[in-house]
Parts: sequence; C-alpha cells; structure tokens
Amino acid sequence: MNWKEKCTTSTLSMKSSMIRELVEMTQNVPGIISFAGGFPSPVTFPKEQLAELYKEVLLQKGDNVLQYGSTGGDLPVKEAIIKEDQLSISPDELQVCCGATNGIYNAIKTFIDPGDLIIAEAPSFLGSLVAFEAVGAKIIPVSMEHDGMNIEELNQVIADNDNRKVKFIYTIPDFQNPTGITMSSEKRERLVEIAIRNNIIIIEDDPYGKLRFKGKSYPSVLEIARNKFNNKSVVLCVRSFSKLLGPGMRTAYAIADKGIIAYMNSWAQKVNVTNDRISQNVVAAYLEKGLMAGQIDMIKKTYKPLCDRMVAAIKKYIPANIKWVEPEGGMFLWLELPEQMNTDELFKKAVEQKVAFIPGSKFYPTGCEQYNGMRLNFSYPTGVQIEAGIKRLAEVL
Ligand SMILES: Cc1ncc(COP(=O)(O)O)c(C=O)c1O
Repeated sequence: MNWKEKCTTSTLSMKSSMIRELVEMTQNVPGIISFAGGFPSPVTFPKEQLAELYKEVLLQKGDNVLQYGSTGGDLPVKEAIIKEDQLSISPDELQVCCGATNGIYNAIKTFIDPGDLIIAEAPSFLGSLVAFEAVGAKIIPVSMEHDGMNIEELNQVIADNDNRKVKFIYTIPDFQNPTGITMSSEKRERLVEIAIRNNIIIIEDDPYGKLRFKGKSYPSVLEIARNKFNNKSVVLCVRSFSKLLGPGMRTAYAIADKGIIAYMNSWAQKVNVTNDRISQNVVAAYLEKGLMAGQIDMIKKTYKPLCDRMVAAIKKYIPANIKWVEPEGGMFLWLELPEQMNTDELFKKAVEQKVAFIPGSKFYPTGCEQYNGMRLNFSYPTGVQIEAGIKRLAEVL
C-alpha cells in the first residue's frame, strides 16, 4: 500500500481544499469578478505602522522575543489584550494562539473524544467544521434563521441526544461566516441558559464582532454568561486579529475558564511550544499605542460602502424570490435561492459569465448539505466590480 492509499482524506477536508481550489480557479479566469474569497481587503492592512513596530519590537526586545516563551502567550501581550477589550479577567483566563483556528483546535483537541457531539449552526465556517471532524467529533447541524441559530431546534437536538456526549455548541454570533447574520440579544441569552442547564460549553467564534458598521451592537455571548449568569466556564470565546490587522500575523486569543485555558495550553505546548512571539508583541505594541480604534474605524469605513453597494445592486438586479438578510458588519452576504435550485451547478454557469461565488453546500457538515445557498464576499472586490458582478449574477440566475 502506498502512502496515498494509507493516508485517506476525509470528505470535509476535501471540501475545504475544494473551496481553496474554487477560489484559485476563479483567480485565473481573465476578467472574472469574484465574490468567492474570504479575504480581508489588503488596502486595510496597516503596513507602514506594522513595519515600524516589527523593527521597534525587535530592536528593543529582540533578546527576549526571539527566545522561547510561555506557551499561552506573553504576560504583557495578554495584559494589552485584556485592557483593549476591557475584560474583567485574569491573564490565566486567556490564551494567545496562532489564529482563531488554532485556538478552536486547541480546545476541541483537549476535550473531544472520538464520537462526541458538537452542535454547529448550519451553514457554518468550514474551517471549524473540518477541525471538528479532524478530532473525531460528530457534527449535529442546527439551522440558521434571520436572527441567528434556531433555538427551538437547538433544544430539540440536545433532547434527542440526551444519552450522548454533546460537548460543545459552536456559534459565530456576529456577522456569521458564511451568512453575515447576527444573533439577536434574546437568542444569545437563551443560548447561554440552555448551555448552562445542559452542561455544554459554547464556543463563541468572534473574528468579526468589532467590524459592525451599522445597527446597534449586542453584548457578546461571553459577556452575557459572565455578567448576567455569573458563569465563567460556559463560554469559550475566540477572537482574532486576522480581520483587523492581517491574517498573515496569525495572532488571536481564546478567553475561557482558567481550568480550560490550562488544558488548552498543555495541548498547545505539545504542538506549538510557543506562538510567534514577535507578531504577538507587535500586536501588543499596536494596542498599547492606542492604534486599534482608528484601524477598526478605517476598516468599517472601507467595508460599509462596499456592503451598501452590494445591497443596492441586489435590490436592483436580483429576483425577488431570492432571500437574503442585510449584514450589519463583517465581510459576507448570503443568498438563499428557491429550494429546487442548486448553486453547485450554477457555479459553472456563473464562471462562464465571469462571476464567482462559493456554493452554499460547502458550508454544511457532510451528509447534511443544502444546495440552494451561496456566499458572497464584499470586502475584497471594488465597488464598481460589486455592481457589475451582481448584475452578471442576476443574469445567470
Ligand atoms: C468564523 C471564522 N472563524 C475563524 C476564522 C479563522 O481566523 P484566523 O485567521 O484567526 O484563524 C475565520 C476566517 O475566515 C472565520 O470566518
């Protein structure tokens, strides 16, 4: 048996590489307008400031930051994050990780035994679904509504699996990837109450929460659990600098009960030893200099007109029988087509017409796919491209 036969690839992992292939494929079609990528706009990357800070950190702290450090992150870095987010937590309730993906993996690798259940919104971020599968979890989907996860269905799913170990409920409450939907305040509270009652940890994946460019913001699920329910252990919240400074920095953080963080650190120690200490210290310097508020403001000012342009173009060109929810932040908008339509098939026709999206089926756990959705990204294309691309998409539809 050769290595290819031995190293079988799981369906979900195949799906994640297919998304990458779809994105790459669309990049090579001349004149294509792509809504397929999931990238922040490079015009928002604070290159000059970061260049200075990398130099400053290396020259001032080089002997330290080029050395091995503590697994869960450097104390001054944690303190800078705690201050920036105005968190009432101690540093041992926080892990600095190598991207949100790594933080989520550290958590599930620590707590999931093969066959354990994770409840996830459907559709959801494929990167996490792949990680869940990689540790042997079975994913139970709960459908999305215009105001977030269907809470009645969540209750039902938990009751149906009473005798099995539901270990996590995975949610992206703000500007969800892929739907752009935000969970209502009421649902956030019900989610926390249900999780506490059933002794299940919520993973709140929050890479977009700070990128709200309209509407009123809701308290995070973490804040609700800690402030309203006085519970420190029910929510594990992961936040990332990827969409704020640039995903190449691979710097994020997880906030949870200190016992949970200790387990996560113990796993991270086996695989990472330490994270990139230079980048995390550059992030800390960035925060300490008070630069983040202006940066977030600039990103919101960049994305809002792009989102507005997409919304206006959809209203103008897209048939009325197609459903969608206007995003109030983040980077994505989701179109829900009539049930009999299949966006996997539509994708090929769309590429022929030089417009691309990600077919919705890629965001569901294997075996639970729905084929009538599509994810559109508005942070990467220009306003002119958005208008022309939606027009082309409407013609394909
Ligand atoms: C919901 C969600 N979680 C996590 C990530 C990954 O973030 P990071 O770059 O911090 O690993 C993404 C990136 O697209 C995302 O959309």
